[in-house]
Amino acid sequence: MNPALSKFMLARTPERILHPTPTMNTPLPLNTGATIPALGLGTWQSEPGQVKATVIHAIESGYRHIDCAFCYQNEDEVGEALKEVLAKKVVNREELFITTKLWCTFHTRVEEGLDKSLKALGLDYVDLFLVHWPVPMNPKGNHPLFPKFPDGSRDLDKSITHVDTWKSMEKLPETGKVKAIGVANYSVKFLEELLPNTTITPAVNQIENHPYLPQQEIVDFCKGKGIHITAYSPLGSTGSPLMKEEVVIEVAKKHSVEPGAVLLSYHVARGSSVLVKSVTPARIESNRKLTSLDDDDMEKLEGISKAKGFTRFVYPQFGVNLGFPDKQ
Ligand SMILES: NC(=O)c1ccc[n+]([C@@H]2O[C@H](COP(=O)([O-])OP(=O)(O)OC[C@H]3O[C@@H](n4cnc5c(N)ncnc54)[C@H](OP(=O)(O)O)[C@@H]3O)[C@@H](O)[C@H]2O)c1
Repeated sequence: MNPALSKFMLARTPERILHPTPTMNTPLPLNTGATIPALGLGTWQSEPGQVKATVIHAIESGYRHIDCAFCYQNEDEVGEALKEVLAKKVVNREELFITTKLWCTFHTRVEEGLDKSLKALGLDYVDLFLVHWPVPMNPKGNHPLFPKFPDGSRDLDKSITHVDTWKSMEKLPETGKVKAIGVANYSVKFLEELLPNTTITPAVNQIENHPYLPQQEIVDFCKGKGIHITAYSPLGSTGSPLMKEEVVIEVAKKHSVEPGAVLLSYHVARGSSVLVKSVTPARIESNRKLTSLDDDDMEKLEGISKAKGFTRFVYPQFGVNLGFPDKQ
């Protein structure tokens, strides 16, 4: 097109068309051809006894994306909630996007790990199945989830590597029990080990991501490889410390929205989906409201990690160098 004409048309195109306000269910593309809703409800640390009501309330409030994991030890209750909303026809199964994850003690038993989650969730398939951490642990250790040696060090399973685990994951789509497979907590180092050995590129890398921890390197790397990023702990996790950040409050005031809307919309502006956990009905409702952020807002939010010199959390519980940089 003539450059002058395209400039003319761009100048006259309304802002709402150029930068549409994201919504909780804005569909973001995956490399499988499917889409993932922009906002998901997290279920980690949602206590048994609370999580059924939480998931029902979220789905009745419009959430369509629910993030689960075998390790959260509450999938049976999530399953009760799904059974209820599906029976009441609040939604059809096809309208939901359900993620679950393979726990570290199941790396040698990938399909068995998936089957356990499917049974607890009461589902025939999940939309996304992730390797929860690239760290195989002893399936016959002294604890079913977090085995340790007597000296307290982590009981890792050195008989296989995370690349072997992925080879088992690649067999799952043809079973019909998963629509997509992906990874979580993968650094550039681990993806560089994995990608040359794949026949299926992971659809998603689910990582800790928020303005204290922008992780630009892994976000850019995944974008370049067609791997969608899902951000977890967007409010800074337990106790939501980022909600009190001055810059976040300032950007929220500018747009007349809650600080949560800024923290969640930050990821959608970067092309990522985002998971937020709450068991509080009013918060589940307010967290649904996303907003458009401009370049100036993004620059301010990106300044938070620089100003605070935030040091990355290390994950000593895994007893292995996961290859994330120490400093952002
Ligand atoms: N792949 C992984 O390894 C991994 C690791 C961590 C998390 N995740 C996933 O990501 C999800 C979200 O991360 P997260 O649970 O760590 O943290 P988060 O969503 O950043 O924060 C959750 C905390 O924020 C509070 N909160 C929620 N909405 C709020 C609001 N509007 N105002 C004030 N406080 C609010 C919650 O309290 P209440 O619940 O009491 O309301 C809870 O204490 C998890 O649940 C899980 O599904 C995945």
